[in-house]
Amino acid sequence: MRHLIDVTDLTVQEIDQLILKAEDIIAHPARYQDVAAHKQLATLFFEPSTRTRLSFESAMLSLGGSVLGFSSAASSSTAKGETVTDTVRTVSCYVDIIAMRHPKEGAPFAASRRSSVPIINAGDGGHNHPTQTLTDLLTIHRERGNISDFTIGFCGDLKFGRTVHSLVNALSRYTGIRFLFISPEELRMPEYIKENTLQRNGLGYEETESLEEAMPQLDVLYMTRVQKERFFNEADYIRLKDTYVLDPAKLESAKKDLCILHPLPRVNEIHVAVDDDPRARYFEQVRNGKFIRMALIMMLLGLDA
Ligand code: CP
Repeated sequence: MRHLIDVTDLTVQEIDQLILKAEDIIAHPARYQDVAAHKQLATLFFEPSTRTRLSFESAMLSLGGSVLGFSSAASSSTAKGETVTDTVRTVSCYVDIIAMRHPKEGAPFAASRRSSVPIINAGDGGHNHPTQTLTDLLTIHRERGNISDFTIGFCGDLKFGRTVHSLVNALSRYTGIRFLFISPEELRMPEYIKENTLQRNGLGYEETESLEEAMPQLDVLYMTRVQKERFFNEADYIRLKDTYVLDPAKLESAKKDLCILHPLPRVNEIHVAVDDDPRARYFEQVRNGKFIRMALIMMLLGLDA
């Protein structure tokens, strides 16, 4: 039995297989409509979500399976004081696979130690979000034709943004990727990622506070929301939240084939006027999230069409 807690739980070859499977599902959805018949997925979300929870549920339903679960800790026995591990041990008596999101870093890992079915980390605090990373990689692959030899700029809250931590980790295993980190001083990429993931593997990176300076160099721009829920001090959040607002004027110096991604939800960091720019690919990214999760569910349950 395998879990997906961190994106490094998958080899690069396995990620590439998932991407190919997702692309086949997109091309031939009918072939997959009964693959998970009689299988059940539980979505245990102790923290809010729109895309991740609903894309998991849509993925399982599109494979012919069933879904159950809860969308807030308040509607589960967590509210009575039950531990995460007891909750997961209980739910694993009912279902074949569990996707869980939790505000505490490491909670899905702890749950995986006590679960009798595969656990998928659907986001743990400011730590990791491996299925968003698979979504991002599928989107880059579909937009660029491969995952190599490009410059990616990560912009915004690089300190608390779990999606950027997972994606840097994944991209560090591909070749020819140049990393540009664009953030205010207070929201820089954590040292442990720069040291353990990049420097230790001989990979370079550059840091800047200026989106304008970085823009002409970028092939992929990964915008992020400032993570209000992870701040201890509201005044700091208010001061930093609108540091970067991508608008059509800022895109004038960008490459014609720039790919603009954002894990969503957005607040102010991408102006809605950018949505009509063909380089804005974040709603395509949302769509891809369902198909890569279909491929992942199949892999973890040992299913094929
Ligand atoms: N990208 C993402 O994780 O979105 P949700 O918080 O809506 O699931």
